[in-house]
Amino acid sequence: MPQGVVIIGLQWGDEGKGKIVDYYTAEADIVARFQGGNNAGHTLVVQGTKTVLHLIPSGILRPHAKCFIGSGVVVDPEVFLEEIDILKKAGVPDLENRIAISDRCHLIVDYHKHLDAAREGRKGGIGTTKRGIGPAYEDRASRRGLRLADLYNGKVFEEKLNDNLQEKNFLLKEFYKVAPVNMDAFLKKYSQIAERLKPFVKDVSRELYNEIQNGKKILFEGAQGILLDVDYGTYPFVTSSHTLPSQAALGLGARLPKDTLFLGIVKAYTTRVGDGPFPTELKDSQGDLLRSKGGEFGATTGRPRRCGWLDLVALRYALQVSGIKHLGVTKADVLSGIDELKVCTGYQYNGKTYDTFPADTSLLDKMQPVYQTLPGWKEDLTHIRSAADLPKNLTAYLRFLEEKTQSQVNLISTGAGREAVIDIHRAF
Ligand code: IMP
Repeated sequence: MPQGVVIIGLQWGDEGKGKIVDYYTAEADIVARFQGGNNAGHTLVVQGTKTVLHLIPSGILRPHAKCFIGSGVVVDPEVFLEEIDILKKAGVPDLENRIAISDRCHLIVDYHKHLDAAREGRKGGIGTTKRGIGPAYEDRASRRGLRLADLYNGKVFEEKLNDNLQEKNFLLKEFYKVAPVNMDAFLKKYSQIAERLKPFVKDVSRELYNEIQNGKKILFEGAQGILLDVDYGTYPFVTSSHTLPSQAALGLGARLPKDTLFLGIVKAYTTRVGDGPFPTELKDSQGDLLRSKGGEFGATTGRPRRCGWLDLVALRYALQVSGIKHLGVTKADVLSGIDELKVCTGYQYNGKTYDTFPADTSLLDKMQPVYQTLPGWKEDLTHIRSAADLPKNLTAYLRFLEEKTQSQVNLISTGAGREAVIDIHRAF
């Protein structure tokens, strides 16, 4: 791998990034997260037991790799410590020396989770993961946030908390009619948490700077996808962070290595969890088939994912706003056995055809996809390890995708297994 690889989802998350991250982690020295929080999720098998990690990069399962969590990530310390317990119990070694969380990270605390859940319980919710992500990022922007560094300055922490609780408890009690947060219980809980977290809290920007200087290989692991970016996604049906590759530098306080591959991951069809426009959604048995064959249920919330055909208008847009040119295509195996595959190449609305992605989400909701039909393939892909052995109709499907989006497929994942990846070894 080059010295840096940035992995970015090009759709609405759940593109199978974890699989590609795992592929590169074999060679990476460090896996670093730079945005989002425990709204993400990777399902892993640790010592024969299925485990889902939401915050700590799955690279932690490779004993040679270090894992960094940059300041752009919002951290729920309780979730972090639960994951530490799971990893310790499974015998994963040397966690204190291999995991670093930035002291600049904003905390997700109880009132963020209560507010997220209370808002989602009302009309106008957008289908969030209810993990407190949005409220924590709001506090960061309004400069009310509690940061990890504050946990180690009792006086500052208490003052900030007091200010916050006056406002948050008013909202929780008077507006949302749910239970407020008790200051004393909160302080006690978080002083215990602070103690346990201490060995992991570091100056991640500095550590990363040194590692990059020393020629170490870094994998920058994005969460969610471009269409969930707070500005460039289908606003307001988005997450609260930037999911673009430029966030990798911002969210870690780092200059990326000169030799960095920006790899966008795209599922061979499209899925989405939560509300919001989805022009190629299939609400029929074809959609059900993709869901059951592709195991399309959220790793974080267990919600069934909405499924639909590949949307090249959305993909072209994601590539445009991210500058990404190189693709990793996942889950083509799920399409095996479907006679005819539809691919969206434009949208139609009011008698006009569009090939761009509109900012007005309500308009996107009304747009009808224009499809081109491509012949499917029947072969099981799971054991194919060379691009030359791929079914010819799959190769044509990938060429069509490349041509219509002016991009290049570098990796193809052909099944769930760790080894089911074809690297076309194209220069970038
Ligand atoms: P939040 O990030 O919990 O605020 O949720 C905002 C939107 O992003 C909702 O539609 C979620 O379903 C979606 N979302 C957040 N994280 C992920 C993810 O990791 N995969 C897919 N969708 C996500």
